[in-house]
Amino acid sequence: MRKKVIAGNWKMNMLPNEAIAFIEQITPMVKDTENEVILCVPYVDLFYSLLSAQNTNIKVGAQNMHWEEKGAYTGEVSGQMLKSIGVEYVIIGHSERRQYFAETDKTVNKKVKAALANGLKPIICVGETLEQREQGKAEEIITKQTMLALEGLIKEQMKNIVLAYEPIWAIGTGKTATSEDANNSIKSIRNKVAELYGKEIAEKITILYGGSVKADNAKELFSTTDIDGGLVGGASLKVEEFSKIVLA
Ligand code: 13P
Repeated sequence: MRKKVIAGNWKMNMLPNEAIAFIEQITPMVKDTENEVILCVPYVDLFYSLLSAQNTNIKVGAQNMHWEEKGAYTGEVSGQMLKSIGVEYVIIGHSERRQYFAETDKTVNKKVKAALANGLKPIICVGETLEQREQGKAEEIITKQTMLALEGLIKEQMKNIVLAYEPIWAIGTGKTATSEDANNSIKSIRNKVAELYGKEIAEKITILYGGSVKADNAKELFSTTDIDGGLVGGASLKVEEFSKIVLA
């Protein structure tokens, strides 16, 4: 059975002192869970969060990175830099980055490769817009995004990949995909992985659902056959709410 993974994506929220307080408060609440707990925090919170999370079962991730190791890229942070302070995960290709920062399937693929080369585990986001869903293109879009994100990776690298299905219309809107719809979309992503890398790898890969996950819908979503946990935005900013999702 695949282990459940609950990842918080704080987006551009939480100052370092708030990050420290959050981790101190949630640590005893989630210490006995068998689920993997990850907090993807803003760059400036990373070091503080890593220190606070030492000797706990909470993992720390970043929300983005550049694909080059170093160089004249003002304002960017590389995978090597993240790895050097002990970061384990990095979100790649979140729809907000695709939408507001012109990320493409090509740059997503470059970032995924750079993350792996630096020993980071990418959490790769895919998802369709409302318009694409209404046109009946959701499956085509998400399987294509998956294929392009993984382009050039070998089987061996797939064990360090986490995928996240985040329908754009469900992000921050309070609209959640029904557990059945989300599960079906995730199944189609898993089938794509099977087509590319074989059934065994597809059965092992972790695929999360993201989009208005809350304490009161987490259990239903996570008890489906193919949803392996959640990538949680807004609800990951509140200790109580997030701990309930982790324990759901
Ligand atoms: P919300 O949980 O706020 O809808 O955000 C989901 C998300 O984008 C996580 O990456």
